[in-house]
Amino acid sequence: MDQQEMKVMTGKRAVEALVKSGMKLGLGTGSTAIHVVRHIGSLLKEGLLQDILAVPTSFQPLIACEEWGIPLYTLNSKEIGGTLDLTIDGADEVDGDNYCVKGGGGALLLEKIVAYASGAYAIVVDETKIVRNLGLRFPVPLEVVPEARITATGALERLGAAVLLREAVRKAGPVITEHGNILLDIRFTNPVDPAALEQDLNRIPGVVENGFFTRLRPKVFIGRSDGTLEIRD
Ligand code: 5RP
Repeated sequence: MDQQEMKVMTGKRAVEALVKSGMKLGLGTGSTAIHVVRHIGSLLKEGLLQDILAVPTSFQPLIACEEWGIPLYTLNSKEIGGTLDLTIDGADEVDGDNYCVKGGGGALLLEKIVAYASGAYAIVVDETKIVRNLGLRFPVPLEVVPEARITATGALERLGAAVLLREAVRKAGPVITEHGNILLDIRFTNPVDPAALEQDLNRIPGVVENGFFTRLRPKVFIGRSDGTLEIRD
């Protein structure tokens, strides 16, 4: 299987294992999580699922829900009341504790709010995302208030991180998130403590949220190139 086929297979299998009619669902962002949305859409169309209430984590799954006719809500909707049964999302890296780095798609802020409001959490990845140590290969994104670009960069460099402002593609200047902020991508050269950093990074003034996800132990669905699926609890 190539990487694209692994993503499709993993997304579909996670839906089949976890999603039940009537659920309030958080829907993640990215090229793997989108297959979760599409599969839910097609099961709804076939009548094999009913009464799904979906809370998307960015415009990408929101638009996919609109296209597939999946009923859309926000965490603040009366019907949702700030809690979800399950969220399924992708990740950029997953370590042996099922801690994750997320935000490669720039949606980490709402992804974290939605994940931490969910009774159950699942991650869908292909095998290339599994690492021994987070933050060494794939950068950890931070959503930062634009006015704090220089001060936050300095604070992060003092913590030993290399910092890169995420530049837009097909637009001059930085990526501006769906919440009006910039993204600083940071990378470490030595192994770090992701659980401690998840808390510490948010203490830097102007940092709205960071891409370490360590407070939930998700069920991780890992698609492999030989066509098999590993489920890690
Ligand atoms: C978006 C995310 C994505 O889930 C993460 O970047 C993985 O995306 P993909 O499945 O396309 O590799 O965190 O903010």
